[in-house]
Amino acid sequence: MTDSPARPSATIARRGFLALGGSAAAAAALAACTASSSPTGPATPTPTPWAPPAEPMPFPADYLWGTATSAYQVEGETALDGRGPSIWDTFAATRSNVKGGATGDPAADQYHRYEADADLMSDLGVGAYRFSISWSRILPTGSGAVNQAGLDHYRAVVDALVARGIRPAITLFHWDLPQALQDAGGWGDRETTARFAEYARTLFDAFGDVEIDWLTINEPKTHAFVGHWYGVHAPGLTDPDAAAAAVHHQMLAHGLAVREFRASGAKGRIGIALNLLPVYPIDPDATGGAERVDASENRLFLDPVLLGSYPIDAIGPYPGSLPADATAFEALQQPGDLDVISEPCDLLAIQYYGVTGVDDGGNTVTIEPTSAASWQQIRAEGLYDLLTRLRDDYPPIPILITENGMPDPLPAVTVDDPYRVDFLRTHFQQAARAIDEGVPLIGHFVWSLLDNFEWAEGYSQRWGIVAVDFATQERMPKASAGYFSDVIAANAVSPD
Ligand code: BGC
Repeated sequence: MTDSPARPSATIARRGFLALGGSAAAAAALAACTASSSPTGPATPTPTPWAPPAEPMPFPADYLWGTATSAYQVEGETALDGRGPSIWDTFAATRSNVKGGATGDPAADQYHRYEADADLMSDLGVGAYRFSISWSRILPTGSGAVNQAGLDHYRAVVDALVARGIRPAITLFHWDLPQALQDAGGWGDRETTARFAEYARTLFDAFGDVEIDWLTINEPKTHAFVGHWYGVHAPGLTDPDAAAAAVHHQMLAHGLAVREFRASGAKGRIGIALNLLPVYPIDPDATGGAERVDASENRLFLDPVLLGSYPIDAIGPYPGSLPADATAFEALQQPGDLDVISEPCDLLAIQYYGVTGVDDGGNTVTIEPTSAASWQQIRAEGLYDLLTRLRDDYPPIPILITENGMPDPLPAVTVDDPYRVDFLRTHFQQAARAIDEGVPLIGHFVWSLLDNFEWAEGYSQRWGIVAVDFATQERMPKASAGYFSDVIAANAVSPD
């Protein structure tokens, strides 16, 4: 993802929040409702001091080690075999929207190279591969006639994985909405939820014979906020109310897809992929801003899925909240919507990149070293804090980490990435620590298998454990790929 240079205030980075000066009435209203409808609150201000034990920390025998990508970021061939345009094609066609004027062509050319990439994963020993399906390859205009060539392509990808003993994990929506649906209102329009359910059902029917982990929506928060509020991702809107509508409609679409999955009788498991951000108040005596950032960053997505309610402090003109019209957000919700959204899932997929500090005004504060992605503040212990918080605050559900990783510091190709080895080691340790303390963590996917198209950053940020020369499409495993392979083989993480 990316920073948000277009943010309409003096604040902050991509995951930061606009601090609105609230009126006295708003402040009073806020004081009256600060206790949210959720039992959760911000994480503790400082990490619990912890050092890894001298012996390797083991993982459960059936722990799922995987790598992840998404369609627009790796496939290329955006006009082949009947694929219709998506909002990312449109957005990237305006050169100034993406660094270097880059687009999703050629990306990592995985549309043609999936067999070789499956071999690569097989060599590394990974047990699962998470990729996404491009909606507009299946339904070029978002609904209606199915494009058989699209289904055939993904059937071949699934078969290539299964033949190598690699479990497919498929994301249904990783931000590349068919342009025709955007033209009809996109996630601002409730109709899009019904189109998503149809699309999902098409895939459950086509691949229901295979054991697959289905992820309905990838990071509804990023798509809603960065795409509809900050204007930095497709569709490039800068409207908090549009972002709030995109939140509710994506959540509803998720629940409808879960119902379609159950009705289809397809094999496998299903859940939603939420990026979560541990929030640490920088002043332990003034935690209001952090509570509201926690509400808008985390509970706005966790609570409806796991508790069947929206937190009341996530949206409104309060420091740290999504500054949309809360009444309009409520008006979007029809009777029964929250029952749909909270339809029981088989797993909760979480994506973890780092933490943030927050001041009492709801402004994000840098409290840890950042990576080349300036929004990413790295604190491995934050993963432990997040996992134990999920255990403590929500009903039990198996948790799968479907993204975790960092970019290289420079845009140049490198295979020497000691920082990423260190990142992976320390995060695997925190995962093992949480498992040891009863967190039902069932697997860990590294983002990403390959260097790829990093959204508004184009090809300037390399997140792969395997380097890609985009001119030749040569794959070159980095040191971190070797390290990951060793961890998988041992099914344990060593102290150093
Ligand atoms: C997204 C990926 C992205 C990664 C790094 C995640 O939030 O799902 O598509 O490449 O972050 O920014």
